[in-house]
Amino acid sequence: MSKDVNLMEDIVSLAKRRGFIYQGSEIYGGLAGTWDYGPLGVTLKRNITNLWWSTFVDGREDMFGIDAAILMNQKVWQASGHVGGFNDPLVEDLKTKKRYRADHLLEQNNVENVSSMTFEQMNEVIKDRGIKSPDGNELSDVRQFNMMFKTHVGAVEDETSVSYLRPETAQGMFVNFKNVVDSFYPDLPFGLAQIGKAFRNEISPRDFIFRVRELEQMEIEYFVHPDEWKQHFDYWLDQQKQFLLDLGLPEEKIHHVDVPEEDRAHYSKYSFDTEFDFPIGQKELLGCAYRTDHDLASHMKHSGKSMEYIVKGTNEKIVPHVIEPTFGLDRTFFAVLSNAYTEDEVNGEKRVYLKFPAHLAPVRVAVSPLLKNKPELVEKAREVYSTLKKEFGNVMWDDNGNIGKRYRRQDEIGTPYCVVIDFDTLEDNAVTVRNRDTTEQERVNIAELAAKLR
Ligand code: GAP
Repeated sequence: MSKDVNLMEDIVSLAKRRGFIYQGSEIYGGLAGTWDYGPLGVTLKRNITNLWWSTFVDGREDMFGIDAAILMNQKVWQASGHVGGFNDPLVEDLKTKKRYRADHLLEQNNVENVSSMTFEQMNEVIKDRGIKSPDGNELSDVRQFNMMFKTHVGAVEDETSVSYLRPETAQGMFVNFKNVVDSFYPDLPFGLAQIGKAFRNEISPRDFIFRVRELEQMEIEYFVHPDEWKQHFDYWLDQQKQFLLDLGLPEEKIHHVDVPEEDRAHYSKYSFDTEFDFPIGQKELLGCAYRTDHDLASHMKHSGKSMEYIVKGTNEKIVPHVIEPTFGLDRTFFAVLSNAYTEDEVNGEKRVYLKFPAHLAPVRVAVSPLLKNKPELVEKAREVYSTLKKEFGNVMWDDNGNIGKRYRRQDEIGTPYCVVIDFDTLEDNAVTVRNRDTTEQERVNIAELAAKLR
């Protein structure tokens, strides 16, 4: 599947128009690689994170939630290998000084097997093929670029006060491994789970919320006996897929891809990506990595604190190994949004709607009086609205424009049901319920409405 530019434009424009996602710092011309979630985006995102947390934390006995600080002691990032190894290859346009990911630029120029190339090999290909920047200018040599945002903590800006905005949430869990073991004495295998922001100074952020500089991750570090890593790896890969299915994403758009050694992160001995058919093509959505004891052993060495675990029953002393299923929240949001985007025709007119599953829709039900200047209709509609709001929470009051316009607006934000109170309601205590996907309408008695919508 290749990039569908028109579809991307339609999705980005709908996301802005309807309050899902705005460009970051837009009134000042934006800030590359940052996006702001608007009112409906926040709710959709929360519906995704709530499902994730209830599935993987509340729904299990072997998982412990964590919410660690974003700023961490710089030694964490030295020990984890991110100071030395979290690099991307960078080239600079010698005239405009714009910077590009060298590997992406080569791929755009149809160079094959880029991921296995050394920097020298990339330089050779650039020279041999006369590859220029997208503006047609000469390029610098390829060099390493560390993607962590560096900052200083406190009033003094020297080497001792250096810290980084975390590039993954994972380390907040590794440094708390011992704390959780001491507080809860969990049996192996068990996991730590965290949802939070991560930051990467991507050389070329692009494709809407697919590649951003400030992102959100939902991560699990699952601690296992080293002999059992493969069975747990396979299990978690399946669990990741099941979660995507629970989000209503179709199986045929989900692909597992074995990540070759040269493409794996510095901490991983074995990785699978879960790729998805986005409008920009088939791309990485989730990752699953076998991190071995890379992190715990390294923190043990650098901090001098034991990360050993005594296996109950056998008294064997081990440093547990780690399976890491990681979920990018922005990409998951993008997958849900792009998959929901649907166009059809109603009464000879083009219609755009978001076909969210009801459990994810930011607005579950919209309630309207047929006419907003008829107090008796408004009063009855308010009663229905209050009852539904108590039960479902995300219920919208909508009395703007005529009923046709309301339906179109609710279709565009993916509201599965619209409830309309009309003059007949005052007689028969029934309302019209309109189904987003079929546009069919049925009369439902108010006493049965909540049960019907549930
Ligand atoms: N702790 C492991 C880790 O961070 P990763 O593959 O680098 O692994 C995990 O990132 C997930 O985070 C990815 O699968 C992707 O969904 C998301 N992600 C990574 N970089 C991103 C970026 N620049 N913009 C949006 N999402 C990103």
